[in-house]
Amino acid sequence: MSIAHQFKGKSVLVTGASAGIGRALGLALGRAGAHVGLVARREDRLRALVDEIGPSARATILVGDVSDEEFVSEAVRTFAAEAGGLDLLINNAGISMNGLVEETETSVFQRMMDVNYFGSLFFARHAMARLEQSRGSLIFISSIVGKRGFPTRSGYAASKFAVHALFESLRVEWADKGIHVGIVAPGYTDTEIRQVALGPDGQPRRAAGHTSGDVMTAEDAASAILRAAAHRKREVVLTRGGNFMVWLNKLAPHLADRVAAKVAR
Ligand SMILES: NC(=O)c1ccc[n+]([C@@H]2O[C@H](COP(=O)([O-])OP(=O)(O)OC[C@H]3O[C@@H](n4cnc5c(N)ncnc54)[C@H](OP(=O)(O)O)[C@@H]3O)[C@@H](O)[C@H]2O)c1
Repeated sequence: MSIAHQFKGKSVLVTGASAGIGRALGLALGRAGAHVGLVARREDRLRALVDEIGPSARATILVGDVSDEEFVSEAVRTFAAEAGGLDLLINNAGISMNGLVEETETSVFQRMMDVNYFGSLFFARHAMARLEQSRGSLIFISSIVGKRGFPTRSGYAASKFAVHALFESLRVEWADKGIHVGIVAPGYTDTEIRQVALGPDGQPRRAAGHTSGDVMTAEDAASAILRAAAHRKREVVLTRGGNFMVWLNKLAPHLADRVAAKVAR
């Protein structure tokens, strides 16, 4: 039985469910019998996902932008009312960028913060009361570059560092409420993230996906995230390459600089 079955009968809200890791989470949880709340801007993709879960799907489609706090507050309220509560929130929606600091428009840095940081903050804040009622879990999805900056990804990395700071703060703030707060930092995962990443002018880069070497599938990343939630883990770093980079950065940051420069090239 897959780890998703541990969430059978539970109410789980997944942001960024129209593609990649979020889609894999929604599919696994929906098929395992969870009531899933599926958040993203592309409604057609969310509808196709519900069809794929199958006729027994218990799903609520929530179409909107996670950086819009009014939408987020309404989405949490609607989902909790339809599903009868909220047991797990996975703050997964995210967007990346690719460009040198000096050539990238300020709006790109702002968009990284709006989606990756503020989107996560809004969902966490508006879900708190429901998570307290269920003594449930909140999982943030960060990145290896949320632990170590990276050339050409500075704005994305900064937004993920902010997510790490929010995670560490909330974990302690909410400990007395019985809410588990965890974070998962994926390494390279084969999704659309590099195709839709913003270039220096704010337009999608349409860069080729990273499909060779130490790359995880979205399905494996989703399983690791669900394991972290089920076992109420504090922090999980994914892929061998990701763990190596975090370790190297602690022990020999000057060597990590060289590896980062080489990977960026
Ligand atoms: N893939 C990797 O190598 C990798 C590595 C480390 C961390 N991560 C993290 O993993 C998470 C999932 O990424 P992924 O690789 O699965 O990317 P993806 O395939 O590009 O999917 C991103 C998801 O986020 C949603 N999204 C983006 N902006 C949004 C917004 N403003 N409002 C609502 N939804 C939004 C997208 O839906 P719509 O476009 O339909 O709104 C989509 O469903 C992200 O937080 C990412 O930073 C990924």
